[in-house]
Amino acid sequence: MPAANPSPPDLPGETSLARALAAIAPYGVHTGCRFIREGDETHLSPEEARSIPARRPAMRRASGAARWIAHRLLADIGIKNVAIPRAPSGAPVWPDGTIGSLAHDDDMAVAAVARIGQIVSLGIDVEPALPLPDDIFALVATGADRMGSAGQRLAGRLLFAAKEAVYKAVYPLDHQVLGYEDIAVDLKADRATTTTGRRVSLVYCTAPRVVVLGYVGGVED
Ligand SMILES: CC(C)(COP(=O)(O)OP(=O)(O)OC[C@H]1O[C@@H](n2cnc3c(N)ncnc32)[C@H](O)[C@@H]1OP(=O)(O)O)[C@@H](O)C(=O)NCCC(=O)NCCS
Repeated sequence: MPAANPSPPDLPGETSLARALAAIAPYGVHTGCRFIREGDETHLSPEEARSIPARRPAMRRASGAARWIAHRLLADIGIKNVAIPRAPSGAPVWPDGTIGSLAHDDDMAVAAVARIGQIVSLGIDVEPALPLPDDIFALVATGADRMGSAGQRLAGRLLFAAKEAVYKAVYPLDHQVLGYEDIAVDLKADRATTTTGRRVSLVYCTAPRVVVLGYVGGVED
């Protein structure tokens, strides 16, 4: 007889990305990922669904998948049955005492969650492990950026993901909209600075997807 609650199938790249995220996450930061499935919009609680303006079904599915992960990560740190609505700014609203960040590409959602401690803010981005088109690279990169040793093929994609992760990490602290030109990423030193004076530490993986996690606070080297 089949199990009443069979485990979800291990969809492409989910397990290996989960391992890669766990390997890069700073101490105290919980991470997870979910291959976006049909029906994932049903994981939005009523409060969350109300907070997310009507958008394309694929986007609601992605937001549901990201919250599915985040609800579980919060439960892991003892916080259950809470909503993570969207503020009018777009930023997710985390339960008191916690911080986190969500992201999704066309296929995969990711989330990071922590209790507020030495780390005071988190930002995450996920991208396919494909070269960034030249026209987008031209929009994103400035002379202040330093590329690392991630390999030429994915360097632009990593830079793009880093700027998005940094933006998500600093927005909840400063409530300022930043452009790409306001964020200088140093992929050799694994950190970024913003024109608003924030320093953000970076960790990342490039397989099976590009994921960058940015965090403010923690132990400075
Ligand atoms: C935040 C932003 C960069 C996200 O980019 P995206 O490619 O649309 O989407 P992602 O999948 O990477 O991330 C979406 C998640 O970001 C989070 N997010 C949105 N706005 C946010 C903000 N101001 N602060 C922190 N997190 C935010 C939300 O959790 C959202 O998930 P949800 O829609 O399920 O709630 C974009 O929505 C935005 O606000 N851009 C304006 C500023 C900008 O583009 N500057 C240049 C880049 S630095």
